[in-house]
Amino acid sequence: MNSEAGSKPLLSALAGEAQTPVPFWYMRQAGRYLPEYRKLRAEAGSFLDLCYAPDLAVEVSLQPLRRYAMDGVILFADILLVPHALGVGLGYAEGEGPQLEALDRRDPLPRYEREKFLAHLSPIFETLRGINAVAPATATVIGFAGAPWTVATYMVEGGGSRDFAKSKSWAFQDPQSFQKLIDLLIDTTTDYLLAQIDAGADTVQIFDSWAGVLLETALRRWSLAPISEIARRIRQKYPDVPVIAFPRGVGTAYEWFARDANISAVSLDSTVALGWAGERLQPHAVLQGNLDPQFLVSGGAAMLEEAERILMALSGRPFVFNLGHGIVPQTPPEHVAALSQFIAAWKT
Ligand code: CP3
Repeated sequence: MNSEAGSKPLLSALAGEAQTPVPFWYMRQAGRYLPEYRKLRAEAGSFLDLCYAPDLAVEVSLQPLRRYAMDGVILFADILLVPHALGVGLGYAEGEGPQLEALDRRDPLPRYEREKFLAHLSPIFETLRGINAVAPATATVIGFAGAPWTVATYMVEGGGSRDFAKSKSWAFQDPQSFQKLIDLLIDTTTDYLLAQIDAGADTVQIFDSWAGVLLETALRRWSLAPISEIARRIRQKYPDVPVIAFPRGVGTAYEWFARDANISAVSLDSTVALGWAGERLQPHAVLQGNLDPQFLVSGGAAMLEEAERILMALSGRPFVFNLGHGIVPQTPPEHVAALSQFIAAWKT
């Protein structure tokens, strides 16, 4: 937290102090591209078993730091543990992505029993305490959750989607009842993130991976407003814990998120133009981003040139180097090593 910020460069950047070298971490830095992850996952049996086994989850969270010495260690878990803790059936079929028991708009909403919900998630809090016990003192511990809109889409569609037809028709045709689902997710996600902070998270990131399929009024109502409300409640209890928002794909509406009084930092997807971001966003929020994860698949000079372009554009002010989306499973670990060495050595 704040008293330790001096020794944690990533946390200092998020608190608004420019850092040299530029602190970095990568979305989905733990995962299938690492052989040591695949080994532990096989030992655990399934991805969900791994999430709920604190000893193994601590180890998986730290695996990327041992290789690349990033400035941040992100909790190993998943955004869909929130519906799971509400009693929604969840499974991850090999190669098919998540599958949930789909919520129909005529169904009653899951009932929120706070004690039961937090008890279900207690292994996650134990993982965070474990990470704190073993992570390097300079590493910032990052908690996270999905934003209400993104989590709602998985609940309503029963998994991933191409067109979000069910979620959109519910939200557009019956906004009052859709609001009840979003409100449930605001309450549960806030409690989940506050408990992560209690267990040692220095900062939290809210992933709105599917914000970009909404526009204007719907984007404000279903993405910006719920994220801002969660951040407001966190700020009320923990004024010094920065909240990072990742509204992927929202284009020029990134400016709404950057100007929001409750959001401390915004994570940029790879389509955001750097000059525009420097001018229109950076005066209002700490920026994080935004190398296209496909550069990490191809590697080489093209990857480093692109990373340098990002650093040149945004590193004069408080900035955190990251990707524009998560590392993909095809990524050669050597490319992550080359990028990390480059960022750590880079000076203006
Ligand atoms: O960043 C990290 O290293 C921490 C862990 C983390 C995972 N998921 C682990 C995971 C984080 C931060 C997430 C976030 C997440 N999960 C998001 C938001 C970010 C994004 O990618 O847009 C979303 C939409 C999900 C939901 C989810 N979980 C999907 C769609 C999938 C299947 C597709 C895929 O990428 O594998 C998962 C599974 C998942 N979550 C895996 C991991 C390591 C792979 C599980 C396995 O080992 O097979």
